[in-house]
Amino acid sequence: MDNKDLSRRQFLKKSGAAVAATAVANPLLACAAPAKEAEPQGFTEQGTIDVSLRVDGVEKKFKVQPRTTLLDALRDRLDVTAAKRVCDRGTCGACTVIKDGKPIYGCMMLAVDANGSTITTATGLMDNGKLSDVQQAFVDHDGLMCGFCTPGFVTSVAAALKANPKASLDEIKEACRGNICRCGTFNRVFEAAVAVAKGAK
Ligand code: FES
Ligand code: FES
Repeated sequence: MDNKDLSRRQFLKKSGAAVAATAVANPLLACAAPAKEAEPQGFTEQGTIDVSLRVDGVEKKFKVQPRTTLLDALRDRLDVTAAKRVCDRGTCGACTVIKDGKPIYGCMMLAVDANGSTITTATGLMDNGKLSDVQQAFVDHDGLMCGFCTPGFVTSVAAALKANPKASLDEIKEACRGNICRCGTFNRVFEAAVAVAKGAK
């Protein structure tokens, strides 16, 4: 694989492996070695519960500790990283995913409570590598700056327009009331969502 093809996560894993190798060579650096990559830090099969989810169209079966949130299960157990962990306490919306058609905060639900459900992240909104109408509208209307909140907004807007394809600006704002953009791109996000709603047949 070419370096330019590395995802950010793959890059960090490779960087971590390089640091670990250096630490082995130099015991003085051993304390800087990252945790084993195969499982999240502290993971043990003891007391785990089997969970099965359909995530972005793919069936997933895995084990989690009862305390593991859906967000952590997605990111750390399944390597599905579209939903972001920001506040981790249900205030920012960066972790929004669509569960059985409804937007939820991934950080506020236990993975075991989501067992058997269908989860769609921003990645799963794409169709064979093609951006969905909502995703394309975010691009066309410049609806992001740093982009960290964007997967959450995209899923909130997509869920809102799926339920109400001709949603008004006020209805879109209401649907996004649980999402925060620290870069202040709210107006562009709403422009993008309204453009999709206006184009709805
Ligand atoms: S990370 Fe879940 S609401 Fe902020
Ligand atoms: S684009 Fe940066 S937080 Fe929203």
